[in-house]
Amino acid sequence: MSLELATAGESHGPALVAIVSGLPAGLVLDRAAIDEDLRRRQQGYGRSPRQRIERDEVEVLAGLRHGRTLGTPLALVVWNRDHRNWTWGMSPWPPEGEPQGKGAKPVTLPRPGHADLAGVQKYGLADVRDVLERASARHTAVLVAAGAVAKALLAQIGVAVSGAALPEAGADPAAVDAARADRDTLGGVVEVRATGAPPGLGSYARKEDRLDARLAAALMGIQAVKGVEIGDGFALARVRGSEAHDEIVRDERGLRRTTNRAGGIEGGVSNGEEIVVRAAMKPLPTLMRPLASVDLATGEPASALVERSDVSAVEALAVVAEAAVAWELARAAREKFGGDALEDFVAAWRAYVERIDWAPRGA
Ligand SMILES: Cc1cc2nc3c(=O)[nH]c(=O)nc-3n(C[C@H](O)[C@H](O)[C@H](O)COP(=O)(O)O)c2cc1C
Repeated sequence: MSLELATAGESHGPALVAIVSGLPAGLVLDRAAIDEDLRRRQQGYGRSPRQRIERDEVEVLAGLRHGRTLGTPLALVVWNRDHRNWTWGMSPWPPEGEPQGKGAKPVTLPRPGHADLAGVQKYGLADVRDVLERASARHTAVLVAAGAVAKALLAQIGVAVSGAALPEAGADPAAVDAARADRDTLGGVVEVRATGAPPGLGSYARKEDRLDARLAAALMGIQAVKGVEIGDGFALARVRGSEAHDEIVRDERGLRRTTNRAGGIEGGVSNGEEIVVRAAMKPLPTLMRPLASVDLATGEPASALVERSDVSAVEALAVVAEAAVAWELARAAREKFGGDALEDFVAAWRAYVERIDWAPRGA
């Protein structure tokens, strides 16, 4: 039994959609908790005015009855309120009437750092809009909704996941103000921590099973993430082995580590310590003072597209990264503990942690 996630949706299309399959039956979902994560994703200093238009809320179309999962695919929808300004430009069917509203004119000025140029080349498109609408990070909204569902499942086995931006670069309001004044953008670093994960999530058996590889792919799968670190990550490359590894001791609560430089994962398997991962975000590519580009319609040098855009989205990334890590941990937990009914899943977890005589720190 594994969790699967399929998503669809364009940035200014009618809606963003996610289908989550592999949930056990009987999991209670809290609509307010999902909406709160959607709200958190829209916050952060340096976001664009788009966030004032969108007030993201989740709608559930299938897989839930009276707030409990049915064990069937869960269909989540987040409507794009801004679509009302793009009904002609982003009409799924051939639009009727004269071109009007946003998105009516083709975009031919690819932005360095975005998917624009490679996308039109790859898919044989003439309008960069056909690329950027999906390449945009707007659809991370439904990933956050799916992550909130994953967090509800993880809570049943005592796992809690939280993400935060490190207080530097794009998470420093003064730096954001300065970048905005220069019509520039910033990136930053986010950190996600998961407490309560038992030893044994993931496996060294195959590279695709490795929890570190899965978390790295999940984080790298988010727009603008260009680096991922597990535990002390890159810093480990610069110290000796005696300073890099986490010694094993036994105390009254069982086998423990004196440090956690590995970030809770060894050999691709969670080791029972806190899971700690970081992701580096590049500065956002849409600049109000645009970089050099070429007009694809004329072949002449031109400035890149300028479109409403964030100065920094690192605090939003923290929420998206939290959701991605929660999703991957929930998927690993489903693989390990299985169960069609929630109580079977929880019973398998309980039997396992009793067998290995493990309890989370602070329990
Ligand atoms: C939460 C979030 C918000 C983002 N907002 C913007 C934005 O407003 N403007 C922009 O140019 N890029 C934004 N990005 C980054 C782009 O989507 C991303 O750089 C682009 O799709 C190219 O992909 P790559 O950076 O992964 O290569 C955002 C990314 C995230 C995670």
